Amino acid sequence: MAKFNENFLDLKESYLFSEVAKRVAAFHQKCPDRTVIRLGIGDVTLPLGKTVVEAIHTAADEMGRAESFRGYGPEQGYDFLREAIQAHYSTFGVSLDTDEIFVSDGAKSDTGNITDLFSKENTVMIPDPVYPVYVDTNTMNGRNIVFINGTAENDFLPMPDRSVHADIIYICSPNNPTGACYNRTQLREWVDYALENDAVILFDSAYECFISDSDLPHSIYEIDGAEKCAVEFCSLSKTAGFTGTRCGYTVVPKAIRSVTSDGREMSLNRMWNRRQCTKFNGVPYIVQRAAAAVFSEEGMKEARKMIAHYMENARIIADTMKQTGISFTGGINSPYIWFECPFGMNSWEFFDFMLERAGVVGTPGAGFGENGTHWFRLTAFNSKENTVEAMRRFTELLNTDPS
Ligand SMILES: Cc1ncc(COP(=O)(O)O)c(C=O)c1O
Repeated sequence: MAKFNENFLDLKESYLFSEVAKRVAAFHQKCPDRTVIRLGIGDVTLPLGKTVVEAIHTAADEMGRAESFRGYGPEQGYDFLREAIQAHYSTFGVSLDTDEIFVSDGAKSDTGNITDLFSKENTVMIPDPVYPVYVDTNTMNGRNIVFINGTAENDFLPMPDRSVHADIIYICSPNNPTGACYNRTQLREWVDYALENDAVILFDSAYECFISDSDLPHSIYEIDGAEKCAVEFCSLSKTAGFTGTRCGYTVVPKAIRSVTSDGREMSLNRMWNRRQCTKFNGVPYIVQRAAAAVFSEEGMKEARKMIAHYMENARIIADTMKQTGISFTGGINSPYIWFECPFGMNSWEFFDFMLERAGVVGTPGAGFGENGTHWFRLTAFNSKENTVEAMRRFTELLNTDPS
C-alpha cells in the first residue's frame, strides 16, 4: 500500500462555507417566507465588463480560424499580457522585467504552489486571522508555522517581532478577512525584517485595486529592497470580476537568490519558471486576451466602475458600524468589513443570531483563525439595495434584546 501524505491529518476541518450553507438551508426550511441577504462569501456579483466580453468574443473567433488558431501557449503567459501587467506596475512607479511576471489561473493556486520552491525545514510566519490557504498548504507540506497575532490592539496589522525568526512570511494587504491595509512605514519594517533574516515575503495583493488612499502602497515593490526578498501575487478575480474566468499573476524578481551550503547559487525566478514549465500548461489564450483587455484604458474604466459600486456598499456597511458604535476595521481600502460581535457573542453565536433574527448572512471570524473567535466578516459584494436593507436590519437587531 502506498504511504499517504500524513500531513493531511494535521489539517483542520475546512467546514466554514459548507457549515454556513448548511445553517442557511436549515433556516430556509424553517422559515420559507423570510428573505435572506447574503453578505458572506467573497465572490463578486457584477458581470464582466463590455470590453472584456468583446475581447473574449474576438479571441474565440480567432481560435475558430485556421490562420489564427493557437494551441499550447507559453507557460509563463503571452507577451501581450505580461507587457500589460508590466505597464500596470509602472503606474505605481514599479519597474519589472516581463520575465519576472508569470501569468496564472489565479492567486489561490500560486500562493499554494509557491511552497514547492522552499525546503520543508523553513519556519513559516502567518498572520492570524488570514486567508486560510497559506496555513493549509504549508500544513500539507509539514512545515513549522508560527502565527503572528492580528488583534484590535494592532488594528489587525501585526508587525515583526525581532525576537522571532522566520524564513517565509505571508503578508496579505489589503487583508482578507480584516480589510486592514499596511502603510509604507509598516511594509518598510517587514522588508527590513525579511532582509535581516534572509527570509522571503510572500505578499498577496489580491485586493490591491480596492486601495483608495493615495499614500498606501499597492505593491510591496514600492518599498526599496523588496525586489530582493518578496514575491507578489495578484489576481483579476476582484479587480475585474474574474472569479469564474480565472486569471492572476505572480511576480518573482530575479534578485531573489540564495546559496546552498556547498556554494551553489539558486534563483527563485528560475525555480518558479522551471516549476511552472513542469507542472502548468498556461492560461487559455481567450482568458489572457480578456485579462489584457482589463488593462486597456476602457477596461480599466469599467473595472474602476465596478470597484466603485462595491466600495459604495462597503461605505454603507462601515457607516453603520460607526453609527452603532461597533469596533471594526476595513471598508475603506477593501471590500471587507471586520467587526467585533455584539453582545459578547462568539462568531458562530452571532452568525445564528443575525440569520434568525435579521435574515442576514455573514462569515464567522472563527473560520480565519483563533483571533477571529469574536469577530465577523461582511462583504461589499451585493447590490446597493440589499446592502442598505441588510444594514437597516442589522441596526434594528442591535436594538433588540438578545436573550
Ligand atoms: C487574499 C486572497 N488571495 C487570493 C485569493 C484567490 O484569488 P483567485 O480567485 O485569483 O484564486 C483570494 C480569494 O478570495 C483571497 O481572498
